[in-house]
Amino acid sequence: MVRIGVIGYGYWGPNIVRNFHTHETSEVVLVADKNPKTQQRLHKAHPGIAFTTDPMEVLKSTEIDLVAVVTPVWTHFELAKLALENGKHVFVEKPFTCSVTQAEELIELADRKNLQIMVDHTFLFTGAMKKIRQLMDQGELGDLYYYDSLRVNLGLFQHDVNVIWDLAPHDLSIMDYVIRDKPEAVVATGEKHLNGVEDIAFITVYFPKRVIAHINVNWLSPVKVRTTLIGGEKKMLVWNDLEADEKIRIYDKGVSMSTNPSNLHQLLVSYRSGDMWAPQIEQVEALRAETAYFLKCIDENTKPFNDGIAGLRVVRILAAADRSVRNRGEAITL
Ligand SMILES: NC(=O)c1ccc[n+]([C@@H]2O[C@H](COP(=O)([O-])OP(=O)(O)OC[C@H]3O[C@@H](n4cnc5c(N)ncnc54)[C@H](O)[C@@H]3O)[C@@H](O)[C@H]2O)c1
Repeated sequence: MVRIGVIGYGYWGPNIVRNFHTHETSEVVLVADKNPKTQQRLHKAHPGIAFTTDPMEVLKSTEIDLVAVVTPVWTHFELAKLALENGKHVFVEKPFTCSVTQAEELIELADRKNLQIMVDHTFLFTGAMKKIRQLMDQGELGDLYYYDSLRVNLGLFQHDVNVIWDLAPHDLSIMDYVIRDKPEAVVATGEKHLNGVEDIAFITVYFPKRVIAHINVNWLSPVKVRTTLIGGEKKMLVWNDLEADEKIRIYDKGVSMSTNPSNLHQLLVSYRSGDMWAPQIEQVEALRAETAYFLKCIDENTKPFNDGIAGLRVVRILAAADRSVRNRGEAITL
């Protein structure tokens, strides 16, 4: 039995507690939240789980093997570091840390203590993501051209991070998972309108072999949109995460060009427009699959694929995007 302490019981914390508490091989023994009002919500949902307002009780407890850090981003580093120093495995929310140096320090500390870190890149465990990865591994899309994502809604305004650090980690972790190449450079623009942090941003990431990715994140959109296009040489797909059924549609569409043999200066363009289909997608709660996988990694003493290093790769792009925004779209080499 893996005994778990959870720090942070705001919006996302209850999902972490519910999942870790209901696996056969784990139980949540203590939840800490600085806000005493959260105790009532916890005890209504899980009367048997102890509560404290002092996170140190979780971090120092000899009863706890794994600490889940589900607090605002600026607190991740300090809490995860204390958890590792006290010999606990760590499940940390996205984005992993506020800086590259913080992420590197936590990775080094976990390695030194032979402890595991998992960064909650939830989308990687969705049925849609599994299907996309499978299609790409099978070469269904052919050589990749682009990844283009729209992730916009009204709010929720965060105080400690801008819209890039709030919403882009999802796309950056997905890109990291499906485009296996190391990104080369980042160009980002954005603007602050209301509370002193960027509430809209456009991020472009350059990869080798002319693969380009673009992410549009926005807290000032009147509608919620979660749509990603992935374009390949052979096929293209549209992932609409807000669709109940048919989240992914694959289009057998494409363009090819050749030169006219009788006039070498003339390009012949041909468009292919074939079938569209929506593959069956596994219906799983991503967090359930993710937490089960982490328990298995701990049991087998193996690193998860969404470990601290995967978290660091995302933080590196976030930090570069911030720098680029400050310099109005300067290209930052990674
Ligand atoms: N993976 C996902 O899809 C997903 C979704 C939402 C949020 N998140 C992440 O989860 C984290 C929390 O986000 P949220 O929306 O739940 O925030 P929230 O503000 O709703 O909740 C955070 C809670 O942490 C508590 N807290 C803050 N500092 C603390 C400390 N030092 N010790 C103990 N308690 C403390 C607060 O009182 C609050 O109840 C963030 O890192 C966010 O990026 C991830």
